[in-house]
Amino acid sequence: MLTSDPVAAAEFIKRGGVVAFPTETVYGLGANVFDEAAIRKVFNAKQRPADNPLIAHIAEIGQLNDLAININPAANKLIANFFPGPLTLVLNKRAAVPVLATAGLDTIGVRMPAGDLAHDLIAASGVPLVAPSANLSGRPSPTTWQAVVEDLDGRIDCILQGAATEVGLESTVVDCTGEVPVLLRLGAVALSDLRSVVSETTTADDPHLQSRSPGLRHKHYSPRASVTVCDGRNNDEKAAFIGLKKPSAKFALVRVCSDVEEYARSLFEFFRECDRRGIGKICCEPVDEAGIGAALMDRIRRAGGR
Ligand code: TXA
Ligand code: MG
Repeated sequence: MLTSDPVAAAEFIKRGGVVAFPTETVYGLGANVFDEAAIRKVFNAKQRPADNPLIAHIAEIGQLNDLAININPAANKLIANFFPGPLTLVLNKRAAVPVLATAGLDTIGVRMPAGDLAHDLIAASGVPLVAPSANLSGRPSPTTWQAVVEDLDGRIDCILQGAATEVGLESTVVDCTGEVPVLLRLGAVALSDLRSVVSETTTADDPHLQSRSPGLRHKHYSPRASVTVCDGRNNDEKAAFIGLKKPSAKFALVRVCSDVEEYARSLFEFFRECDRRGIGKICCEPVDEAGIGAALMDRIRRAGGR
C-alpha cells in the first residue's frame, strides 16, 4: 500500500512487514532490526546477496545503545557533528542484533537519517530499522517513491511516499571500530568534512581494508545502459548526456544541472529515465572530486563497471 502517513506505515513494521521510506540520501527498505523474519523479507524483496550487511537507522541517539557497544571517542565526535545526516558509522554490534542483519559480521552500520518522514516512521515503529536502498539489487538506488514502485511493486508491504530525496547518493560509510576512522564509502559527508572533526581519518584504498565493506565488492548503481565518462564533444545521437555544461555535440537526451549538488541529486533518476526510454549509452561529464563531487565520480565509475 501507498501512504504519506508515517504512523500508518509503522503499523506494517510492527506486524513484521517491510516498508520503503524516504531519507535525505535515497529511499530505504525498512524492517525491525530485531525481527529475523522481517530482515529475511528485506533480502528476498531486493534479491540482495546474503553476504551484504544492512545499515540500522535510528531516530534518537539513545537507540545507539540498543545496537552498539564500545563506541570510541572518535566515533562520538563524528556522531556529535554529523547525526542526523548522511553518515553511517560501522560500530561493534550488540549481541541482541541478529547476525542476519550484519551478514555474519560482529559490527553494525548505524545512521540517523535527517528528514521528518524517516524520523517519524522510526519513532512510531519504536525500534531501529535496518534499511538498504529500496532498489532491486544492482539497480540504481531510488530517489523517488515512483522508482521504488518500478523495482519493488508487489514485493513489499508499504511505501511511505515523500518528495524526491535531497542528496540523491547513498550515505558516507566510515568504520569506527579501529584506532582511527576508515572511510569505506564516499557520500555527501566528504573526507575533508570528516577530517575537520577527526583529523586522523583515513581511506580504505588498501585492498585489505576494502574487504571490510562487503557491499563494495558487488556491482552497484547500474542502469541497463552502459555508462561512460565523457566531455560531450563527440556526436552520439543514440546516447544520453548528463553534466554541468551544455554539450557541444548532439545527444538523444540531455540533462544540464546547475551545480554539482543538483548533478548528484539527479544522477540515479537520470539513469532510470534512460532505461525507460531504451537508451543504451549514457555519457557523464566528469566533475572536480571535491565535496560531493568525489562521491558522484565514485558512483559514475561504479555504474560504468570500474
Ligand atoms: O544512504 C544510505 O546509506 C541508504 C539509506 C537508505 O540509508 N542505505 C544504503 O544501504 O545505501 P545499502 O544497503 O544499499 O548500502 C549499505 C552499505 C554497503 O556497501 C554495505 O556493505 C555497507 O554499507 N555496510 C553495512 N554494514 C556494514 C558493516 N557492518 N561493515 C562494513 N560495511 C557495512
Ligand atoms: Mg544499495
